Amino acid sequence: MTISPSDLRDMYLDLMQDVLTNEIYKDPPLKMSISSKLKKAVGLSARHAQGQVFDEERREKGLDWPSVAHTMIGKLRMENLRMVCSDVIKNNVAGDFVETGVWRGGACIYMRAILKAYGDTQRTVWVADSFAGLPEPDGATYDKDKGDKHHTVEVLAVSREQVEGNFRVYGLLDGQVQFLQGWFKDTLPQAPIENVAVLRLDGDMYESTMDGLTSLYHKVSPGGYIIVDDYHAVAACKSAVHDFIAEHAATETVEIKEIDGTGVYWQRQL
Ligand SMILES: C[S@@+](CC[C@H](N)C(=O)[O-])C[C@H]1O[C@@H](n2cnc3c(N)ncnc32)[C@H](O)[C@@H]1O
Repeated sequence: MTISPSDLRDMYLDLMQDVLTNEIYKDPPLKMSISSKLKKAVGLSARHAQGQVFDEERREKGLDWPSVAHTMIGKLRMENLRMVCSDVIKNNVAGDFVETGVWRGGACIYMRAILKAYGDTQRTVWVADSFAGLPEPDGATYDKDKGDKHHTVEVLAVSREQVEGNFRVYGLLDGQVQFLQGWFKDTLPQAPIENVAVLRLDGDMYESTMDGLTSLYHKVSPGGYIIVDDYHAVAACKSAVHDFIAEHAATETVEIKEIDGTGVYWQRQL
């Protein structure tokens, strides 16, 4: 029996996904001493699990913060990421892959794996994060972030060294991976990114979502995709999306599609 190159590619990407979400060893959610008020403030609804046993359904929907897995976005959002990345590669949509808000790096590692699996040596994966957690809310500029508590959640701060190490263990840290270290408001406006084919926004807050859209949306090629991880998890994130569209993309048809009840995506008009 011979195995086709596309079957081998799928087998590699299936395995990468299972390892990155750790559906292999099934780690329990992080144990966090976090009050129910703070839980609510950071979009961790009652649906989210903490410190219990591995729950397949929750991991599938990205409804736990894993203790070990390299991503918290879950199986369905990883499948969505693979679908859009494969689509732009197959359809020659120009541009790099960008994630703003990477935590342990798992979604970015997956994007690099997808490029490798398709033999794409031209595109770059841009890994944008403070590597120190979320910023304090700037309530004076962004009313909707007033009282936001994400910056107090220590487990959201993962160092650049740790993320680089995570890429390295998969053999995927190379010249096609570029790091943008710092607050989005400082790094994204001047980032040397020409075109974007997939823009994955995962910065939770209004400011973080808006910074990604303001600096990068106009670089997304026709046929490229925008994914918003926290659309249904954090009300301020959803507001940023709609404020941005009203101001900068009012003439475009933006057909927002559901992924898993938390994340959404749309394709930029062809
Ligand atoms: C929910 S986590 C991202 C999860 C990740 N995409 C995954 O695959 O698991 C949010 C990340 O966004 C980063 N972040 C949020 N706002 C930021 C900002 N304004 N500037 C820099 N980093 C930011 C945090 O440091 C954190 O790593």
